[in-house]
Amino acid sequence: MTAPDPKDDKRPTPLIVKDVPALRAYREKLRAGQKTLALVPTMGALHDGHLSLVKAALKKADHVMVSIFVNPTQFAPHEDLAAYPRTWESDCEKLTMAGAHAIYHPSIDTMYPPDFAATIHIEHITAPLEGVCRPGHFDGVATVVAKLFMQAQSDCAFFGEKDYQQLQMIRKMVVDLDMAVTIYGLPTLRDDHGLALSSRNAYLSDAERTIARQLNKVLHEIAHKIKHGTAPRDAEQWGHDEALRCGFDAVDYIAAAHAETLAPLHDPAHEPGRILAAVRLGKARLIDNIALS
Ligand code: PAJ
Repeated sequence: MTAPDPKDDKRPTPLIVKDVPALRAYREKLRAGQKTLALVPTMGALHDGHLSLVKAALKKADHVMVSIFVNPTQFAPHEDLAAYPRTWESDCEKLTMAGAHAIYHPSIDTMYPPDFAATIHIEHITAPLEGVCRPGHFDGVATVVAKLFMQAQSDCAFFGEKDYQQLQMIRKMVVDLDMAVTIYGLPTLRDDHGLALSSRNAYLSDAERTIARQLNKVLHEIAHKIKHGTAPRDAEQWGHDEALRCGFDAVDYIAAAHAETLAPLHDPAHEPGRILAAVRLGKARLIDNIALS
């Protein structure tokens, strides 16, 4: 991160919004003043990747609201919901420094009252890759993001390419359900060694971090092979073996996919391609992806 600017400590603390009536009041006030609103949905444990979304949002809208909600419905029972890092104080400090105007921090009951019964399911794009490894995950994401959109009624919303399949699913949801929100997808922020910044990197030991940094290199090698004529399935197999050689404990998937549908890539010369991976290392499950060209 860059050195703190002396002006930063004069930045106003963001407004903390905790429920839908307060959110509506905030939205109405902005509307009355003809101000636009950008939403940056997060689960907290904020890092520079999240803050890059805030920075981009500040350029597109008059006000930026970051939601912090660790959404239980996108975690399977065996996943890390209880262990997921919660760093409220430092998140607030980071968002103050970044210049966010508001933080939406709803309770579980605000998002999911006891009789909550709705689910949004987006077909096809959610089936492969993460959809195979994390059944129900995308229904949880689609439902919570749709709720956030309807609660905030923001003009635009910002997501990272880090969660590429999630981003493409949200784009599809917005088109199919005629949601009046413009979606922006931002490139993945990485450390100096190419490791994608992630809240889950907090689970890595130093030795594991060194291994984790190989993942992006493997993806680039796969892309290179495909661009030079290796068949996508062969390049995937090479990537799978190489990831294990690098020291990852297991590979959930390493795939060359169509960049829009996420179906297996068959014709790299004529279809837009994306290389995506999910691997396991110690307590962490890491995901990453790059464009083929
Ligand atoms: P979370 O994992 O907190 O991520 C919030 C947003 O930050 C997502 O759009 C994600 O893609 C983006 N992001 C994460 N790491 C990034 C990086 N290194 N560079 C750029 N952007 C990055 O994704 C979720 O939360 C949840 O599924 C959510 C959409 C909030 C729904 O609960």
